[in-house]
Amino acid sequence: MKVAPSVLSADFTNLQQDLHRVVSGGADWLHLDIMDGVFVPNLSFGFPVVEAIRPLTEIPFDVHLMITHPKEYVRRFRKAGADIISFHYESADDVSETMDEICAAGAKPALAIKPGTPAEAVLPYLDRLYMVLVMTVEPGFGGQKFMPDMMQKVRFLKEKAPHVLVEVDGGIHAGTAPSCAQAGVDVCVAGTGVFLAEDPAAAIHALQNA
Ligand code: DX5
Ligand code: ZN
Repeated sequence: MKVAPSVLSADFTNLQQDLHRVVSGGADWLHLDIMDGVFVPNLSFGFPVVEAIRPLTEIPFDVHLMITHPKEYVRRFRKAGADIISFHYESADDVSETMDEICAAGAKPALAIKPGTPAEAVLPYLDRLYMVLVMTVEPGFGGQKFMPDMMQKVRFLKEKAPHVLVEVDGGIHAGTAPSCAQAGVDVCVAGTGVFLAEDPAAAIHALQNA
């Protein structure tokens, strides 16, 4: 599996150093969680942080929009440095139009589903998606417990469209990664599992080789 450490769990007083540790430790992508306090009951960070860290590395920026009107912000996140833009099926904007906006901006479109949303919901869009993000916790916070039942969605999606990447997000660490790999996950996001590990590089390698 590819590994995308979630910057949400980084040390923001030493962000540059912390990001350097995970990038030099072999991170494949950086995962950036954007929260608006409406779609999820939490706030995180926005354009200035994405822009500020963009020059630090060339690895892809995987921006996860947990916001009510993702379509309105696509262009600005692309400009700030997003390569892959994930937005939620459950958000208020039209899925097709939001995907079009992401493609027009020159980024890769990904559709995210919360634990309560069936995998079937993404079927009409699969042929135009770069990736599906299967949430393995309720979005909003790092450090929650992995939901193993979500692996059924991963298996279903990999069967329907093997070429579309499947990413999982929430509660991924050395203990839960093997079941993800077995189900066919392509990319795993890990926040606390990487940034709070004593040896982030070792944590990344353990996930990559799960
Ligand atoms: C949760 C975010 C996750 C979060 C994962 O809403 O989407 O990306 O940072 O954190 P861990 O890996 O600690 O569960
Ligand atoms: Zn996320």
